Amino acid sequence: MFLLADSPAPVIDAGWAILLVSRVLHTVSAAILLGGLVYLKHLVAPLAAGAADPGEALYRGRRTKWAVLVMASTLFLLLSGFFNLWNYMVGYEKLPSTYHMLFGIKFLLAMFVFFVAAGTAGKSPMAVKMQLDIKRWLNLAVGAALLVFALGAVMRTFEKVPRDFNAPADPAVVAEEVTEETTEVVPAESAE
Ligand code: HEM
Repeated sequence: MFLLADSPAPVIDAGWAILLVSRVLHTVSAAILLGGLVYLKHLVAPLAAGAADPGEALYRGRRTKWAVLVMASTLFLLLSGFFNLWNYMVGYEKLPSTYHMLFGIKFLLAMFVFFVAAGTAGKSPMAVKMQLDIKRWLNLAVGAALLVFALGAVMRTFEKVPRDFNAPADPAVVAEEVTEETTEVVPAESAE
């Protein structure tokens, strides 16, 4: 039951606050994007089915509002996502390759979700073409977004061990460096 819990009592400092803001931005933006796509799929798209002008039938003049939400949530997901990853790579002990593999899959699926979300909100000829077949695109995007959520949750369960920057260097590495220095070949004339 407690396997998914984070550390029992957080140390409340500036670093904690920055990570909290990044986490809230990430999860809120993810919720807005997935929530918007689910709403479109189940409530709006069926009402607009078969319309000659899908943009007008779907949004009744409010398309820009959805486009702004898609743009903002995409931007915040990318910024907070890369910040999270950078933080884990710099401030924590090396994560296993499985973690990076999961990140790669999550990132590619997220790119697909961003692409479809932009298509549902855009007005370019390509976006209009996507809107004519919006149910199929939304099925794919909602499925991908659910997978992305699940992958994020799985990645979170990997243990993150903070790096101790004050710890003395690894004795094995120090011994290796000393041996390399002392066994250096000294030119004959300066050896006396
Ligand atoms: C459709 C877009 C996305 C969705 C729905 C999504 C969803 C999530 C969720 C639900 C979490 C777990 C958050 C938590 O429990 O605090 C998470 C974590 C994370 N996400 Fe995303 N995300 C998306 C895009 C991205 C992108 C574009 C990146 C990278 C550029 C990214 C990088 C990360 C990282 C590094 C974590 C932390 C995982 C960990 O705790 O080990 N995400 N994401």
